[in-house]
Amino acid sequence: MSSPPVAPSSRTRPALRIVDFIAKKRDGMELSPPEIEEFVAGYTAGEIPDYQASAWLMAVVLRGMTRAETSALTNAMLRSGKVLDLSEFPERKVDKHSTGGVGDKTSLVLAPLAAAGGLIVPMISGRGLGHTGGTLDKLESIPGFDVNLSVREFRQVLAACGCAMIGQTAEIAPADRKLYALRDVTATVESPYLICASIMSKKLAEGIDALVLDVKTGSGAFMKKEEDAAFLANLMVETGELLGTKVVALLTSMDQPLGRHVGNALEVVEAVEVLRGHGPDDLRELCLELAGWMLHLGGAASTPEQGKSRSRQLIESGQALERFRQMVELQGGNARVIDDTSLLPRAAHHREVRSPRTGVIQGIDCRAVGIASVILGGGRNKKEDAIDPSVGIVLERKVGDQVAAGEPLCSLHYNSEVQGSEAAELVARSFFISEPAAVQGRPLVERIITARGEK
Ligand code: URA
Repeated sequence: MSSPPVAPSSRTRPALRIVDFIAKKRDGMELSPPEIEEFVAGYTAGEIPDYQASAWLMAVVLRGMTRAETSALTNAMLRSGKVLDLSEFPERKVDKHSTGGVGDKTSLVLAPLAAAGGLIVPMISGRGLGHTGGTLDKLESIPGFDVNLSVREFRQVLAACGCAMIGQTAEIAPADRKLYALRDVTATVESPYLICASIMSKKLAEGIDALVLDVKTGSGAFMKKEEDAAFLANLMVETGELLGTKVVALLTSMDQPLGRHVGNALEVVEAVEVLRGHGPDDLRELCLELAGWMLHLGGAASTPEQGKSRSRQLIESGQALERFRQMVELQGGNARVIDDTSLLPRAAHHREVRSPRTGVIQGIDCRAVGIASVILGGGRNKKEDAIDPSVGIVLERKVGDQVAAGEPLCSLHYNSEVQGSEAAELVARSFFISEPAAVQGRPLVERIITARGEK
């Protein structure tokens, strides 16, 4: 990182009275950085019980936080574990993070694409959360692909091909692991301050120079309202900059699934199509937009537009696909799936969901499509549930498309009749079909938020 965050001061001060700490936030007062550091260190070490941490988290949800508190919380969580030092790599280290969506397989395209453009992409990703998909689950649908590399192996893959994609290790931001699990069961996830500290602490622990955030808004996003998404985006950009990392946030539409494939192996197929220079327009366009910013922030392009056209060349020349192949091989995966995607897990059955009437697709309940994929087994209802990598949904129609009565809206790939029927009913109710007329969709990239304001 260009200017490393300040390490929290050592715990030699008088012990924090946790009841006073909770009451201060409950009463809307500002907490000092040392108080926040003391809380994070105490909770991570198991000295502060869950019931007191829960009370404080709820006070934050209700009262909010100042910018200074948010950056102190992010820094303390970041410093609760190891911050990777990737200074052995002379290239800029850049990552991308999405706040979560349906059919969002951009990470699979962006890591090899940005690496082919000369950057180091040390990507630490997550699993599916609620109705949204997770990069690790998608990667694990490639037979043999190992997302649990040690930090030493992670560095070796980065050295060999410029990108590596793994899960969060016990050493990275352990405070977030504990706090996130507690938030999940205490109705305290939905706070922009806590989301910011959670995401930014993990991402900055990667030792990156710059970060491109894809903040989703719409029916399939956690932030349904554009204003809430913009607030979160601004908070993350400011927090990143305060802690010495360049951050840009793109506010992008999640009003319908991204691309046409939803489900783990199905999404790998679509990511490979994009790396081959094909794939659906919305997915390809968003990948190029995000890659353009990654190359620009990483110093490999003088403007985001130049970064975008360089990214297009890297795809057309096959260099980005080649990086993906190298990464898959280096992480133990069967790289033959790239040339023959039929080697990926495939569901036993298909069925089509057909349109009950003639008209235009006015909208799609994106969250419901995500839930249908979870019902098929592509996501988890409980943390310990196993994923079925083969199942999912292929959209035959998207917003603005015409459809005649009896034509397919989507096809389901499933292994159990019961799950297939339940998902089919839900998906059938998720398409809103109106009289034939022009439908005005929202633009894919709605706003771009940088440290210098909005574009
Ligand atoms: N993703 C995270 O990593 N943390 C949050 O708090 C929400 C989404």
